[in-house]
This record gives sequence, structure tokens and C-alpha cells, in this order.
Amino acid sequence: MNQAAENIYFNPWDPAFRANPYPHYKPLLAGPPRILDLFGPTAMVARFADVTAVLRDHAHFSSVRPRDPNETDENDEGPFAGARTMLFSDPPLHTRLRRLVSRDFTPRRIRDLEPRIRAIAKNLIDAAEGKGELEVMHGIANALPVMVIAEMLGVPPDHYQQFKHWSDTVVSGDNTLPGTPLPEEFHTAKNALRNYFAEEIERRRKSPGTDLVSALVAAHDDAEAMNADELLAFVLLLLLAGNETTTNLIGNGMLALGRNPAQMNLLRQTPEMMPRAIEEILRYDGPVQSTIRFTKENINLGGTDLPANQHCFIILAAANRDPAQFDDPDRFDITREPRDHLALGEGIHFCIGAPLARMEGAIAITALLERFPRLRLQDSSAPVTYKGSYFLRGLASLKMATD
Ligand code: HEM
Repeated sequence: MNQAAENIYFNPWDPAFRANPYPHYKPLLAGPPRILDLFGPTAMVARFADVTAVLRDHAHFSSVRPRDPNETDENDEGPFAGARTMLFSDPPLHTRLRRLVSRDFTPRRIRDLEPRIRAIAKNLIDAAEGKGELEVMHGIANALPVMVIAEMLGVPPDHYQQFKHWSDTVVSGDNTLPGTPLPEEFHTAKNALRNYFAEEIERRRKSPGTDLVSALVAAHDDAEAMNADELLAFVLLLLLAGNETTTNLIGNGMLALGRNPAQMNLLRQTPEMMPRAIEEILRYDGPVQSTIRFTKENINLGGTDLPANQHCFIILAAANRDPAQFDDPDRFDITREPRDHLALGEGIHFCIGAPLARMEGAIAITALLERFPRLRLQDSSAPVTYKGSYFLRGLASLKMATD
């Protein structure tokens, strides 16, 4: 439990830790999982083999937080109060919820969106061009994913900004210190999002369109179909899981390329390496640093005995820097032989939006490299600022020179 004795520092609420968590993962990678005291005992699972084992073993490692005896759906503070989402459920509920939407996320379905995503990226870059410098987050990374999801959900384009604001506010709720109440603005944004979508769902029930929400509403009579609360929770999950993450793939990727100009040049010269580059960005500086699981019973993991109901940090980004799995893991190298990384998860909860995220990342970065032949960081060692969440790692701002 004693972080100091083991030379471990792990504090997701410290901005300096969040700015660069990677050196702090090294002692965790050096041995079996440790149980640290982070506002309560938390098992730190970092090694590639341990993280993979946990994610593949949903029978022992649950995605459902054990509740306090006096907790109910009504006093559940999270954004999905009232319904479970696939992300926070175990089989058989997970199987049912995931099966209902999986046909909408197949690589083929996602490829159909490609021309539209290219057009959105082009319009955003048109608007950001001609200023001598580009603010990558503001110019493209923040807007593209939310516009794409809103389009999938059939939301009118003039509501995008409002959405982005609500979902950012809800996501930043995870920066609240455990034991302290969530800020008022979190609740305001959460309620606004829920009310907005409750009305949208009602609207689609009356006059269905060709969007995903209409399809799910229409399937309502199927025995397995989502009930109204589940449907609302799924829409909110998409907005929260698919939005900030993809924004951060684009931002973290441009930062890695900017800090490694030889790699950026190589990618310009060999654009067919883009799929590999996206995998390396995900491995090297993934948007999701860590996920969470809870042990269902006493279990030994990688040599450490964990009690039942143990809260575990499953640190995907640490596993992706494990020297036992990746040579010279701190080097950003788009020519790396592809090896499985864990940035999109593993096992039954593997990211359902992976084909979409990969495509959006590739389209955005390709468009930026094509449009700005001299795109670079003014000072590649200058510090950058990160947003408030540890779990979802992303830049607040990223300025690059274009002239
Ligand atoms: C680069 C961008 C993305 C990253 C790094 C990412 C990462 C992840 C990870 C690590 C998980 C597994 C979490 C766990 O096992 O606890 C996950 C699940 C999920 N992701 Fe993504 N994601 C991204 C983009 C998206 C997009 C674009 C969407 C949808 C439009 C999406 C929707 C989901 C959903 C619904 C789940 C839950 C799947 C399940 O529980 O079966 N994600 N994602």
C-alpha cells in the first residue's frame, strides 16, 4: 500500500502526473500487480500479460461496480443513471445490448460513411486555413468526431456545438476527487443531454428517419430490443465513448508526429503507411489510459492475490509501453512491425467503434498532411497542456506552424 516505499507515484488528480504519466508506469511494469491506496485500495494492473488476462476473463473481472447497500438507480450519480450500458455490464446483459447495435458498426457500414467524413474534414480545414498557424484541436480534432456521431444519430448540424459542450462537461466529471460531490455543471450538462435525447427519441418514434436512433426505436417491438432507458443510455454512451476518444487520437497523433518530424516526413512520403501510423499512435499515446474492473471472487493475478470486490485499474497505456511486449517501447516508430496493442481494449468489450475511430483518425491526419506541406511544431520541446481527465488523455490545445 505504501507508494513511497516502492518508489511509485500514481496520482491521476495531479496535473503534473497527467501531463506525463509514462515514467510513473515503469515501476508498475517491473513487477506483479500492486495494491495501492488511491482513496481506497486499488489494484494496479499494468503489465501487458496481466492486462490481457484480465480483459479476456470477464467471468472473474466484472465491468459492473459493486454497489453500496443503500445505492439505487435513482441516487446513482453517473451519466447513465437508470440503465446499464454495454460498457458497464457483464454477460448476459452485455451480450444482448452489444448484439443489438453491432450490425451498425461493421467495417462495411463504417466504410459507407467515408465520403461524408472526408467532406466534413475538408470543410473544417478550409475554415482553419490561411492563418499561418493551425490550432489542431480547435481546427479539426474537437469538431470532427462529434459531427460524425451526431450525423449517425441524425442530429441537426446546428446542435453540434451544444453537444460538444455537454459531452465535454460530463467527461471531465471523472477528474473529481473521489468522495467529493460532482460539480453542479456536471449535473446540469448530464440532465440537458438526457432531456435532449429523450425528446429526440420521442421525435423519431413519431417520424423515423434513416439514422441509427430511428433504427433502434423501430426495433422496439423485438423481444430482445432495448427499452427506452437503455436506448437513451446507449446514445449517451456513443456520444461519450466515441467523441472525446477520437478527438484525442487526432490530437495525440499530431503531437507525436510533430515531435518526431522524421516520422512525419516518412508518412508524407509513404501515405500507404497511414494504417500502421494510426496503430502506433494508439499504442504510443492512447486516448484511453486506463479502464476499470472489479474482481468477482478471490483470485491470483500475475502472482498477486486479489480479494473479491477489488477495484482494479487496468492501465492499457502502461501495457502498451511494456518492454516485455514492445522493443524500445518509448520510441514512436510508425515502421514498427504491427503487434497487438491494447488501446482499444480486448475481449468482449473490445471497442465497438474501432473501425470508425481508425477511419476518422486516418482521414483527419491525411487531410492535415496533404493540406499543409510545412506543418510542424514551432518548438517540439515546448510543454503542452492536457485536459482535466486522466482516463481520457487529450490536449487542451495544440498549435502548429503551417507557413
Ligand atoms: C481512438 C478512439 C477510441 C478509443 C481509443 C476507444 C477505446 C475503447 C476501449 C479501450 C474500450 C474498452 C473499454 C473496456 O474494456 O472497459 C472501448 C469500448 C467501447 N467503445 Fe471505444 N474507443 C474509441 C472510439 C470509439 C468510437 C468512435 C465509438 C463509437 C462511435 C466507441 C464506442 C465504444 C463503445 C460503445 C464501447 C463499449 C463496448 C463494449 O462494452 O462492448 N469508441 N473503446
